[in-house]
Amino acid sequence: MAKITFITSNDEQVTLEADSGSVMELAVANGVEGIDGDCGGVCSCATCHVHVLPEHTEKTGEASEIEQDMLELDDDADEYSRLCCQLEVTDALDGAVFRVAK
Ligand code: FES
Repeated sequence: MAKITFITSNDEQVTLEADSGSVMELAVANGVEGIDGDCGGVCSCATCHVHVLPEHTEKTGEASEIEQDMLELDDDADEYSRLCCQLEVTDALDGAVFRVAK
């Protein structure tokens, strides 16, 4: 079981719990504003872009090459960017905080 917090562009904090699926699926299922998941999680739309809070990057690990390629097309991307459809919910993510990208 992992508790995951999203911070939306309105600075609203939403904390959700899950034990499977992707972080994008968790956000979409709970209506987290700003995460659309248009491509269904196949890493081809970037509508699930989040910024991992710097102190939580150890929990998420590094983006894959295909994910980085997709992120390069997004002007708002930075070193903390991830496509959250590529993040599986596991216990390792417990306590992670993601700021939803603009
Ligand atoms: S849902 Fe499309 S890239 Fe993540």
